[in-house]
Order: sequence, then structure tokens, then C-alpha cells
Amino acid sequence: MNSQTLREARRFEEATEKTLNQSERPAFHLAARIGWMNDPNGFSIYKGRYHMFYQYYPYQPVWGPMHWGHAVSKDLLHWEYLPTAMAPDSPYDRDGCFSGSALELPDGKQLLMYTGVLALPTANGGIQEIQTQCLAVGDGVDYVKYEKNPVITAEDFPADFSRNDFRDPKIWRKEDGTYRCIVANRHKEEEGQLLLFESQDAFSWKFKKIFAENHNRYGKMWECPDFFALDGKHVILTSPQDMFPKGFEYHNGNGTLCLIGSYDDETESFTEEADQAIDYGIDFYAPQTILTEDGRRVMIGWLQNWDTINHGKQNIKWFGQMSLPRELSIRNGRLYQWPIRELETLRHDRIEYQNVKIIDKVILSGVEGRRVDMEITVRPGNQEKIYRKFDVCFAENELYHSQVSFRPYDHIMRIDRKFSGSLRAIIHQRRCKVIDSDRGELKMRVVLDNTSVEVFINDGIQVMSATIHTDMNAQGISFYADGEVEMDIVKYTLD
Ligand code: FRU
Repeated sequence: MNSQTLREARRFEEATEKTLNQSERPAFHLAARIGWMNDPNGFSIYKGRYHMFYQYYPYQPVWGPMHWGHAVSKDLLHWEYLPTAMAPDSPYDRDGCFSGSALELPDGKQLLMYTGVLALPTANGGIQEIQTQCLAVGDGVDYVKYEKNPVITAEDFPADFSRNDFRDPKIWRKEDGTYRCIVANRHKEEEGQLLLFESQDAFSWKFKKIFAENHNRYGKMWECPDFFALDGKHVILTSPQDMFPKGFEYHNGNGTLCLIGSYDDETESFTEEADQAIDYGIDFYAPQTILTEDGRRVMIGWLQNWDTINHGKQNIKWFGQMSLPRELSIRNGRLYQWPIRELETLRHDRIEYQNVKIIDKVILSGVEGRRVDMEITVRPGNQEKIYRKFDVCFAENELYHSQVSFRPYDHIMRIDRKFSGSLRAIIHQRRCKVIDSDRGELKMRVVLDNTSVEVFINDGIQVMSATIHTDMNAQGISFYADGEVEMDIVKYTLD
């Protein structure tokens, strides 16, 4: 039986989504059905469709008591909303159903594993959050919370681990049919760690060990872990809070971290070999991955960052969107990302220019729009005198523009949305140090979808993403060089 809280959320979203102006929403990125969206949750394949759940507060475009929103897709680009999957309606999760994951059980049901949050008043007038791991079982639309929830609590692990920061379980099934999950946590020194739990049946769980430790290297608390095999390596993805910057690799605040290493299945031990940021732009957090039926590891993240959530336009009844689905690979010890190949099925109206000389500003006929896929190759127009700067401007008119700029002499790529229409004093620019950009040669794939830009640099070795809530009249695209640039471009409209 659905609770009153769940029924209300379902009624509300159905009644109010009709009032949204669809032309100002992303066309092929999943966005909040109405109200607020954060992290992707329960990204999985079930009954022949991709399922994406998400942190959801339907009633306002701000964070509130977390529900799980729900959408399904055949290609990860066209999404159909399903009714809210879970609401904070039980004694152990009445202050929120936080992030988690999903899988199909051997009996054909879908299992959701999530964090239940209970906020208890403390003696000194504050609030203490108790976070526990909980389950719900369903048929792909309706879910029933497990009667023995919560299934993992602070009773299950050593006393010097935090019970307030214990969340975001990532569950998987091993080949031998048993289950594992990793959960983000802190120990008494406040440092992040990932805890490994094991289960025979996915319902009763035992603490196994600390799976990974931060040692205060990458922020404090790690949120939303994922773990998987990829191209002969194993990968942990996690999103650290309270990061201290490190060169151009990590930025202040909420960031993303990819640890690449090896894994010994006997001892269930992960050994770190390399670390890097996942996305070098402004907005990307808490990604989850799936393995598609044809063997691709595909990642989707929240195309937002906790430190920049305040720049939405007023009077808009939704906030929050997901990133493009990105195919992952490891090459030369680095994580590469590339837009899911299904995106190519949305391409039409191909326009190509070769050897375009860019000296000062150039506008190319047919190159415009807010739903666009552009492959751009750049080289110096004069080998003796390499250009100083190259810009791609988009979402542009007399009032607005956003841009990516590349400076070959220091290999810096900058994404800049200062003139995107934002009225808030938040981060509008971010820089990254481009790998493999010798002598002013650079490749970029730029994907725009109404309210976002994602830039894949040099075959996807680095990605920079940002949201832009620019007026939809700003449809222009232009190119600029300080010095001489020669450019090839293939541009498609995406619909
Ligand atoms: C990360 C996060 C998670 C938590 C959720 C709450 O963005 O803080 O750790 O489960 O958001 O909405």
C-alpha cells in the first residue's frame, strides 16, 4: 500500500509538470520532472529498460525531504517519467530517502538500496542525523520498503565510525551469487572512508572491512561511491566534500575523484595506482555507472555542484539535470569519457568547414543553436608564431554568451559562463590544464543541450561541464583567435 506521502508526491508531479515550458528544458538530458533533482540513484537495467532514479523534492526547486524520482529509457537519451518511487514516509527514513543503488534479484524483482535519514534533536538544541541503509523491492514502478529496515546500522560496524555520515550504498552481485555493497562513511578523525559489507541474500548484511581510506588527501567525507572493473583495471568513483585545490586537478569545495587501481578478488582488496578528477568543469557530481548489455561502462552524473546551486532563473519550477551518458574507458592509465554513441542517432543537418582561417572573430553560416554537437580541430595558422588564444562562444547574442578558451602556451582551457545570464556571485569560470595539446593542436567535441555545455577534450581524456541558464533567444555560436588559427569543424543539430 502506498503511503499518503507517496500518493501526494505522485499526484503533485502529475498535475504540475504540465505547467512547465518544455522549450527551456534540456531535450536529451534527464531533468527534474518538477521541483528539485540531485544525485542519480539506482542507475540500472531492468526488464529491458534503463532505469534512473534521482534525489527528488517535487514541491519546490530547492533541496527538501528527499524522495526518489524515477524515469526509464531505451537509449539513455529519451526519458519517460514514472511515478515517484519512494517517499520519506517510514520511521527510519522520515527525514529523507538519500542516495543509493539498484539491482535485479534472482526472483525477477528490482531491489533498491538507499540511505534512510532520521533527524533527532540533541540535548543542546541541535539536530543529529542518523543514517542507516534500507531496502525496497518492486516491479519497476511500485516499491515496498522491506519490513526489517534498516538492514545496516551503526550497530554493524566499529564504534569509532560515524553514524551521522554513513550513506549512499552501492550494491553489486558477485559471480558466486553473493552480494556486496560499499557505503560512504567517516571515522572519528573525520576522514572519509568506504566500508565494505557482505550478504548471502541481499537482505541481511555483515560488515567486512574498510574498503578504501581517504587519509585526508581528497577532501573530507567521500559521497556516492561506485566501484567497477574497466579495461583490466578497477575503478572507484567518489565525490569528496570540502576539497582543497591541487594545481588544476582538483578545485575547492565539492569535487569528483576517480581512483584507478588493481583488485584482488580473494582478499577483496583494492590497491590504488592513480588518481584524477572525473570532470574538470563547474558542474558535475555524484556519478553512477552501469554495464550495458553490449559491455559498455556508461556513467551519468548530476550536472550540478552543491557550491553553485543558486544560479537558476527565478520563476522556474524545476532545478537539476543529469549529464550526458558517457562511455568510459581506460587508456594509458587515465579515465576517458565519450558521449554515448546513441547520441549520434539524434544528429541531423550536418555542416562541415575545413581549414577555416580564424583571425579575430568568425561566424560560420549554419553554425548556431542550443542543441548542437560540434567536433572541432584546431592548429596554428602560422607554425612560426603560435596563436595566443582560441575561443568558442555559444548561447550568444548581444547580451549573453558563454565560452571555452584555450591558451596553448600554458595549455590552459577555461570554461566561462560569466555572461550566461546568472545573477549570483557564484563560480562562473574554471580552468584545466589540457593533457596532450602540443604546439597548439587541440580537438574538442562540444555538446550543447539548451541549458548545458559539455566539452570533451582530445578524444575524451578530459571533460569540462557546466550548466547555463541563458535566455533561449541566445542561439549564436562564434569563434575567435588572438593570433592565427586554422580550424576544421563538423556541426550537427541534435533533436
Ligand atoms: C550527495 C548527497 C549524498 C546524499 C544526497 C542527499 O550529493 O549529499 O551524499 O545521499 O546528496 O540528497
